[in-house]
Amino acid sequence: MDPVRNPYAPGAGQRPPELAGRGKQLTAFDVVLERIARGRPERSVVLTGLRGVGKTVLLNQLRSGAVARGWGTGKLEARPDQELRRPLSSALHMAVRAIATSHRNPERVDDFLGILKAFALRATADRGMRDRWQPGIDVPAVTGRADSGDIEIDLVELLGEAAALAGDIGVGIAIFIDEMQDLGPADISAICGACHELSQDAAPLIVVGAGLPHLPAVLSASKSYSERLFSYHRIDRLDRDSADQALIAPAEREDVEFTPAALDLLYQKADGYPYFVQAYGKATWDQAPRSPIEAEDVEVAAPAAEEELAVGFFGSRYERATPAEREYMRAMADLAGDDGPVATAAVAKELGRKPASLSPARDGLIKKGLIYSAERGSIGFTVPHFGRYLRTV
Ligand SMILES: Nc1ncnc2c1ncn2[C@@H]1O[C@H](COP(=O)(O)OP(=O)(O)O)[C@@H](O)[C@H]1O
Ligand SMILES: [Mg+2]
Repeated sequence: MDPVRNPYAPGAGQRPPELAGRGKQLTAFDVVLERIARGRPERSVVLTGLRGVGKTVLLNQLRSGAVARGWGTGKLEARPDQELRRPLSSALHMAVRAIATSHRNPERVDDFLGILKAFALRATADRGMRDRWQPGIDVPAVTGRADSGDIEIDLVELLGEAAALAGDIGVGIAIFIDEMQDLGPADISAICGACHELSQDAAPLIVVGAGLPHLPAVLSASKSYSERLFSYHRIDRLDRDSADQALIAPAEREDVEFTPAALDLLYQKADGYPYFVQAYGKATWDQAPRSPIEAEDVEVAAPAAEEELAVGFFGSRYERATPAEREYMRAMADLAGDDGPVATAAVAKELGRKPASLSPARDGLIKKGLIYSAERGSIGFTVPHFGRYLRTV
């Protein structure tokens, strides 16, 4: 059918034509915003899950919900080896700019921006960027608050000031952090510390994070109280009804239908993973000659969808791994079936090596975000069906 009208959207962070199966999380977040607006204590929110389950698009949707309530919002994506200070100051700057026009006292806003600037200027220069980076805040820096250089102290002060500013206007601020597991230990600890302070004061500022399944472990390794500080939402595969909904609703808007057998086969192939739902949906649409879309269309389109996934979803990640890391993952794939976590000791045995000698490969893969340590002594792929993919290359 007409590829121009194809509604499906495979791709990292691509807004789906229908955000299926996330009603529970959206409602829960609405309650969080409402409670904070009323000065009730609330936990910050953390979304966790494998790659391609829809954390980024859900995070963006939560952000829209906050914006719709008149909140100031900002977002950043953490990267390994990047300090939090700069991206956070940009995100907070954006959040404050969005609400500043409603503030009755412009001097107070400028005072905050001056503090924010001083906070930002304490950032260690990135390699090769020394002196060139400027926070882009056109007020003079105000020294003495949030600029000690100790990120934990500074963040508590800065976020406290930001929350007070939002409180003046009767709104809140929400800062969204994607790929949160990639923050360094000092930054993780500072975020936990600041959230702890803010929640004790019932201050109207929350941090909403998203990351891989081991993010809760990263947080609790940093501060033991983090288990009570955040409310964790595991984002997972779509159940059958939601996966059908993700396919049917966008098609309906184009007057296109699926036969029940086509939907059966699509669920079998995509296994409920949102990224795969979009990929198979897209390929099948292009393949099908007419509505209703039939099982045979799915069958014929499947190799194109798999090809697309092999390049866009699996291959780009596989290519980042060194030969030793690839060997490690192959051993994992042989042991794990499709995804399931495996014991690191078993991987060592499979490769006939001492576990310690494999640490560099394992740590490299964790840092590259290809595997995660599910619990002590076990590891899993962060990418669903990665084991299956590895057996084809
Ligand atoms: N609830 C959903 N319903 C339908 N499609 C979704 C849903 N969530 C995500 N998707 C699709 O899945 C793909 C991956 O989403 P993304 O947010 O990038 O995942 P993650 O951040 O978890 O890796 C995108 O193509 C997106 O359109
Ligand atoms: Mg993402």
